[in-house]
Amino acid sequence: ENEELREMRHALELTARLYHHLLLHEEYGRVARQYLESRQVRMETIKEFQLGYAPLSDHQLLFRFLKRRGFQPALLEKIGLITSRSSPSMDRFYDRFRGRIIFPIHDTQGRVIGFGGRSLGNQEPKYLNSPETPLFHKGSHLFNLHRARTHIRKKQQAVLFEGYMDVISAWQAGIYTGIATLGTSLTEQQAKVIKRNTDSVIICYDADTAGQAAAERGTDLLRKYNCTVKIAQMPGKMDPDDYIRCYGASAFQEEVLAGAMSLTAFKLEMLKKKYHLQDEDDRLKYLTVAIDLISELPLAIEQDHYLRRLADEFHLSLDALKEEQRRIKLRKK
Ligand code: GTP
Ligand code: MN
Ligand code: MN
Ligand code: MN
Ligand code: MN
Repeated sequence: ENEELREMRHALELTARLYHHLLLHEEYGRVARQYLESRQVRMETIKEFQLGYAPLSDHQLLFRFLKRRGFQPALLEKIGLITSRSSPSMDRFYDRFRGRIIFPIHDTQGRVIGFGGRSLGNQEPKYLNSPETPLFHKGSHLFNLHRARTHIRKKQQAVLFEGYMDVISAWQAGIYTGIATLGTSLTEQQAKVIKRNTDSVIICYDADTAGQAAAERGTDLLRKYNCTVKIAQMPGKMDPDDYIRCYGASAFQEEVLAGAMSLTAFKLEMLKKKYHLQDEDDRLKYLTVAIDLISELPLAIEQDHYLRRLADEFHLSLDALKEEQRRIKLRKK
């Protein structure tokens, strides 16, 4: 590894330490400590994740800190810690992260490669991440993988979340196998990385429409790499962090994660919500659409499995459902 990359790593490491120090020990960090407390992030968690705070008031705090330690502005720009305006003076440099909670992001070996930064209030953007740099590629890294890896291998299962805060809340709730993408949807590269560690994944995305659509795409992608995928569901429009705060750790384990279901079961559940199953006509309509959905499954044994479940659920005979499936096919021709 060349000298420049070593310098970059060093600067990133010092930055993580500085922001962590400011959060914990300086007057600057008071607002951030209060913010994290209001979100019920515990002190031990702040330390474990080395969370930090980049102050709002001093826009050159990090720049000066690193310049004093001999780092060149050009290098700091390359790793996305500072940006510059077109002006000839030193005043043109300013810190990328200001007024944000800092989430250090590591590679699998636990070296800091970049940061996520969350605004304290409703300032936009809500999250600002490091840009693409020689060390940070948001499409190929996963947040928390270096901590979760041994747990994932031991349990032979990973839980994939949308956000940093979900991973952190889950960690506090005793789920140490949580990882998250870095503000984008899951990529092929990340799916490969996951597959290298386990072939069983629970996707636990936000319960909004975007999250549900992303869960379906993520499932398809992970299955392409031969992972078994289950989707965990939360009520309303909650995300895992909201859920844990509202209902607690054991409810999250026992209701949400333990209740995770296959993509087909998940789709059937989603579909069900569109019908009033007490109404006889509606129930029949649901059954027809459900059979149709099951018929699209590639394996005959899979189809059989879900038809049996449907038969059990609605107290019907499997034969009747298979006959209906046959008729639907004929009608389509
Ligand atoms: P909180 O509001 O802090 O609980 O955040 P959240 O994690 O619930 O946020 P949300 O569900 O909106 O987004 C999930 C993840 O997407 C975040 O953890 C970020 O990684 C990313 N993200 C969200 N908003 C932005 C944004 O404005 N810009 C970027 N680049 N990423 C974002
Ligand atoms: Mn050095
Ligand atoms: Mn979301
Ligand atoms: Mn969310
Ligand atoms: Mn959230």
